[in-house]
Amino acid sequence: MEAARVDHNHAKDRRLIERENNYFASAARINYYDLVIDSAHGAILKDVDGNEYIDLLASASATNIGHTNDLVVKAISDQAQKLIHYTPSYFHHLPEQELAEKLASIAPGDSEKEVVFGNSGSDANDAIIKFARAYTGRSYIVSYMNAYHGSTYGSIAVSGVSLNMTRKIGPLMPDVVHVPYPDSYRTEKNETEHELSQRYFADFKRPFESFLPADEVACVMVEAIQGDGGLVKAPDEYLHLVYNFCRQHGILFAVDEVNQGLGRTGHMWSIDNFPGIEPDMISVGKSIASGMPLSAVIGKKEIMESLGAPAHTFTTAGNPVCCAAALATLKVIEQDDLVEKSRVDGQYAKKKFLEMQLRHPNIGDVRMFGLNGGIEIVKDKQSKVADSDFATKVIYYAFEHGVVIITLRGNILRFQPPLVITRSELNKALEVLDQAFTAVKTGKVSLPQTDTKIGW
Ligand SMILES: Cc1ncc(COP(=O)(O)O)c(C=O)c1O
Repeated sequence: MEAARVDHNHAKDRRLIERENNYFASAARINYYDLVIDSAHGAILKDVDGNEYIDLLASASATNIGHTNDLVVKAISDQAQKLIHYTPSYFHHLPEQELAEKLASIAPGDSEKEVVFGNSGSDANDAIIKFARAYTGRSYIVSYMNAYHGSTYGSIAVSGVSLNMTRKIGPLMPDVVHVPYPDSYRTEKNETEHELSQRYFADFKRPFESFLPADEVACVMVEAIQGDGGLVKAPDEYLHLVYNFCRQHGILFAVDEVNQGLGRTGHMWSIDNFPGIEPDMISVGKSIASGMPLSAVIGKKEIMESLGAPAHTFTTAGNPVCCAAALATLKVIEQDDLVEKSRVDGQYAKKKFLEMQLRHPNIGDVRMFGLNGGIEIVKDKQSKVADSDFATKVIYYAFEHGVVIITLRGNILRFQPPLVITRSELNKALEVLDQAFTAVKTGKVSLPQTDTKIGW
């Protein structure tokens, strides 16, 4: 039976959005569809017309433990009544002390760790650049094509996923070299994972052989699993080759865990998918405080001691209410075993998507790492040519039938529900997506007329 259509009040939503458009600058929102959110709990969103949606985006992986979790709400409200803010730039408060200790203890690897706080994933990645340069006395940063590290000037310079992140705003931070990230979907004919790893490692080394002295490189910054780049995982062998290269040449190895950390991949950290690698620094944000503005870099102690204050202070970083939210969030992840739930539910969702792939020729690739996936939509399985129009219609159909999901890079469905999603919510959302593929294939979905492009 086809899922019921949501009874949006299109005219009212449009009015609200058109009014907002008079004041809200275009650079700060990627346009999808007219959803004005009023409230949310767990994996369910409610719009201003009272309609409910199953959330398959989790606010861009920023609410891994679900919306308005009771423990987090209580921690926020208790802390707000005691102390809303005092800056850790000068004095101390208990939530920040407790959180720094907790993060240092749960970061990957056995080395002693220290922490700096920030307000966003972007400034955390800026911190990685600063500490890497300070500790090594070298200036170059190697990062990846299709990476998304944020939109401050440092993090945007190491990103590589959208022309709008470089167009008109240069010159960007100097001494950044981008190398290609392994693509395990569009491989060469009969290429094994070993051959793929070797090919991309050769690409990685090419700059070092022609213009980039290894002894001037401070850091390689990588998403162990690329998020906005399309939910793409580097092969284990490849990442180890890069890691060993870094070790041989005194280059720091830093992992951006902003999108893929905190249980998202079925492990606490995305780098835990690659046993044997201990990053020198990781950046954390988004879900750390369930969407409250907080980020952190957790790094090896000697690296984090390489700068003096105020090289990385922000007045509101390490805000007590945000730190209290983070402590409650981490407690929920542990208590409710959400890392394991992510792994198990991810395997279940993967199986369902693979079944759909047999029935829907436009599903080219199903990538799932924990409850966290990229479903690549193509014109046909042989050519693997991206089909953004098809993918856009799928997400629009889903929205019209009570499921919130967006695309990455035009043609990749971004599947990142809150990890607390119930099995029945998950089944319902998957059913709607299944119906969406059929509806689009049979020409039953048309997109609304807007003057703005939908998606990235
Ligand atoms: C991997 C990754 N790093 C960094 C960021 C930037 O985080 P923020 O938007 O909080 O600055 C993002 C945001 O999407 C991200 O996905």
